[in-house]
Amino acid sequence: MKTYIVGNWKLNFNVGESSIYLHKLQKKLPNYRDIEVVVAPSALALQSLSLQVDRHKVKLAAQNAFYRDYGAYTGEISFSQLRGLVDFCIVGHSERRHIFGEDDKMIQKKVAAAIRNKITPILCIGETESERAFGETADVIRDQVMGGLADVSEEDIDKVIIAYEPVWAISSTKASKYAAPDEVSEAVKLIRKTLKEIYGEKTAEAVPVLFGGSVNPSNAGGYLTVPGVNGILAGGSSLILSEFIDIIEVAKRVRS
Ligand code: PGA
Repeated sequence: MKTYIVGNWKLNFNVGESSIYLHKLQKKLPNYRDIEVVVAPSALALQSLSLQVDRHKVKLAAQNAFYRDYGAYTGEISFSQLRGLVDFCIVGHSERRHIFGEDDKMIQKKVAAAIRNKITPILCIGETESERAFGETADVIRDQVMGGLADVSEEDIDKVIIAYEPVWAISSTKASKYAAPDEVSEAVKLIRKTLKEIYGEKTAEAVPVLFGGSVNPSNAGGYLTVPGVNGILAGGSSLILSEFIDIIEVAKRVRS
C-alpha cells in the first residue's frame, strides 16, 4: 500500500501564495512512486492549481464540500464542481464537526457524494479530550467510522481513506500534548476492527488509515512505524515547505 502524506493548509495562503508553494514543492520533490503527496489548499485556489499541478508528484485535495451536486445552497461548493480539479477531499475534519456543527449524518452524505463524484474522501475521525477522559474513545471511534461509512458499500470501501485525528492532539504547541504512538496504535486497531465488522477482514486491511495531530518531522517517524498507519495528515507543519518535505523524507526512510 502507498504511504500518504497530506498537507491540510486550512484557512491559510491566498491563491498566489498557494501557487508559489506548489511550484517550490514540485521543484524539490522527486517522483516518489510509493508515496502519495497531497496538499489541500483553499477552495479558491483549486481551479488554478489544478492547471499547475504535476500529478505525478503531487495530488490536490479539497478541505470540504457539500453533499448536494447543485441547487439552492448559498455559499456551498459541491463535489460535482470539484470533479476533475481534485483527487481527494477531507471530510468530517474535527474543525468542521466542532466549529461548523457537522454531524455523522451530514458526514455520511458527504462521503457518499465524494465517491459518487470520483473523489476519494479522507474521512477524519477522533475523540475530544473530554471524551477520552470519560473513557468514551472506543465508542466515539466506532460511531464515527460506522456513521461516516453508513452509505459506503463493500464495492466502494477501497475508495475511502480514514484519518485518525484525536481532537486533543491537533495544533499542539507542547510535546506533552502529542499523541503517543501507543495511543495511535490502539485507535488504529479499533478502526480496523470496526471496518472488519462491516466489510470483512481482507477489505478492512486494504483501507489506508492516516494519523494527524501536530505531526512534525521529529515525531512523524514514530507515527509512521505504528502498525496499520499508512500515512500522515499534517496541518501546521505542512505550511512550512521545508517541514513538509522533511516529513515526506521521513516517510521515504521509514518505508524503504
Ligand atoms: P495539525 O493539524 O497538524 O496542525 O495539528 C492537523 C489537522 O487538523 O488536520
